[in-house]
Amino acid sequence: MNEYDMSTFWHWWVVILTLANIAGIYWLIRWTAKKRPGEVAEGSETGHSWDGLSEFNNPLPRWWLYMFYLTIVFALIYLVLYPGLGRFAGILGWHSGNMLHLEDSQYMREMQRAEDRYQPIFAAWAEQDIATLSRDSEAVTTGRRLYLNYCSMCHGSDAGGATGFPSLINGVWQWGGSADAIRTSIAQGRVGNMPGFGASLGAEGVENVAHYVLQLSGRADADAAKAEAGQPQYQMFCAGCHGMDGSGMAMLGAPPLTENAWTYGGSLAAIKYTIENGRMGEMPGFQEFLGEERVHVLSAYIYSLNPD
Ligand code: HEC
Ligand code: HEC
Repeated sequence: MNEYDMSTFWHWWVVILTLANIAGIYWLIRWTAKKRPGEVAEGSETGHSWDGLSEFNNPLPRWWLYMFYLTIVFALIYLVLYPGLGRFAGILGWHSGNMLHLEDSQYMREMQRAEDRYQPIFAAWAEQDIATLSRDSEAVTTGRRLYLNYCSMCHGSDAGGATGFPSLINGVWQWGGSADAIRTSIAQGRVGNMPGFGASLGAEGVENVAHYVLQLSGRADADAAKAEAGQPQYQMFCAGCHGMDGSGMAMLGAPPLTENAWTYGGSLAAIKYTIENGRMGEMPGFQEFLGEERVHVLSAYIYSLNPD
């Protein structure tokens, strides 16, 4: 007995109310089915009539009446077998599971059954390397299911990403697209840190460097004169992370700027915003939450989306 259990008062309250209700229903059925003194014979008119419609004294069909009795019998049997009468647990000892009875609740039993069933499958998959596993259609289907549950709210159900959340299908990687890099991203999480350069570059510098970035990614809307002015500044402020040629640096999570594929948007305004204010995307780690084997299968799924 503890503080979550029903108090004695509420226990008896529920018991008495439930049984009294059932008894009341029984009485009501008997009472309505009873013959009354002065009642006309079954099947004949009662003498009541409304707008030419007259009432007959027809009792409920027998089978209908028996159904009412059956529901009462059902209720009583149910209350003996299952919990329902206050604190009485029912002779089957069944419970759906709550804070008090988690260990042997139906929920935990089902979880355990699922675990027993899938554990050997996940264990066998864990033996295979991610690239091999990414060609196993059953593993990929399971990975996709996990993905939809745990990842799609950020990366989209097609893994195509959204503003602030990188696409996982375009073959452009911040942290690397090798099987190992993908697994590390999912297991440990990632924090990208792009500092803001508004203060060091000034408005004109930001504009020029932005055009240089557009030029790096092969965009026709890059202004050649501004890009030329921005190049030395790019080399001074940006190349350390994004590389001299703009090909990025996986170790720092600095994306390539040559692919015209953008997490934060590829408009001039969005690129200027990034340069001026910086960005800091955060990917949560899943190892602890999902366990190594599920992370492994998820990695195979993500890898399968990027055949190269
Ligand atoms: C300290 C390393 C570092 C430096 C220096 C740096 N960046 Fe970045 N940059 C990053 C990282 C890391 C990201 C990814 C940010 C994130 O994950 O939220 C990024 C993101 C970006 C993006 C967004 C890309 C997208 O997909 O939307 C642009 C554009 C960009 N940087 C341009 C520049 C420019 C131009 C400079 C120089 C003025 C610069 N960066 C300097 C590390 C750096
Ligand atoms: C809360 C939002 C969120 C959830 C949930 C999330 N991610 Fe991410 N993920 C991000 C962000 C933001 C980044 C970019 C981190 C950065 O800026 O460096 C990222 C980065 C990644 C990367 C690295 C991409 C690259 O270009 O290197 C992979 C791989 C990835 N996520 C896979 C997953 C998988 C698989 C799941 C589900 C288990 C998942 N993510 C769940 C937000 C999320």
